[in-house]
Amino acid sequence: MTSTDPIPTVPAPHPARAIRTFHPRRGRMSGRQTAALTDLWPVYGLRVADIDRLAPVDLFGRRAPLVLEIGSGMGDTTAEMAAADPDRDYLAVEVHTPGIANLLDLVHQRELGNVRIAEGDALDLVRLLPPDSLDAVHAFFPDPWPKSRHHKRRLIQPAHVALLRSRLAPGGTLHCATDWAEYAAAMRVTLDADPGLVNPYDGVAPRPAHRPVTRFERRALRAGRPIADLIYRRR
Ligand SMILES: C[S@@+](CC[C@H](N)C(=O)[O-])C[C@H]1O[C@@H](n2cnc3c(N)ncnc32)[C@H](O)[C@@H]1O
Repeated sequence: MTSTDPIPTVPAPHPARAIRTFHPRRGRMSGRQTAALTDLWPVYGLRVADIDRLAPVDLFGRRAPLVLEIGSGMGDTTAEMAAADPDRDYLAVEVHTPGIANLLDLVHQRELGNVRIAEGDALDLVRLLPPDSLDAVHAFFPDPWPKSRHHKRRLIQPAHVALLRSRLAPGGTLHCATDWAEYAAAMRVTLDADPGLVNPYDGVAPRPAHRPVTRFERRALRAGRPIADLIYRRR
């Protein structure tokens, strides 16, 4: 596939019938997180529902390779990776308000100019991005939705992968990590089947040192669940 190939059409779900990849969940916020949300949201935040197109250069005020972090959770990974990688910009997208607030606080504490945080559904956000605009997509520990009847909620499924791939620049990477062996196997089937992606590794990639160890990873390793990193490149 080249950048001149047509972009696969991935219809946006009808809002009333959308199958979401996340649980709407509440969470208590610390005083620090509440303050971060009030003070820092106007500087670093954007609401997916409020925009109808997204030009990364306007968001960051510069042209730099862009990394999309889907489901940034509490934001520790995003903050750590962005701090170690100042020449690329990081756009985190999350629906969980305490996690967004925590990342705002981390970004401010560490004075990271290369992070912005979107609140909303990552798939809606991706539809607003121009084709070929992403250097990398990170989906670290996406919700595994282990019950078969919930598999339709998984982030990594053919239509979503086609959408993500359409926004990756040629040579850009889609990096998924999971501790759920059955999801890892299903991800491999889906990613291998996408004609625009190639796996430069023989199946699971060696654990990359640049991906920080998260709470999820530590918990999984303690429970004896190995982590699979799947790193595919856009052709
Ligand atoms: C299991 S957590 C992993 C968090 C983080 N990546 C980590 O490694 O610690 C998955 C996160 O993805 C978020 N999420 C799931 N689907 C999403 C979507 N479509 N858009 C934005 N966030 C999403 C959830 O709210 C949740 O915080």
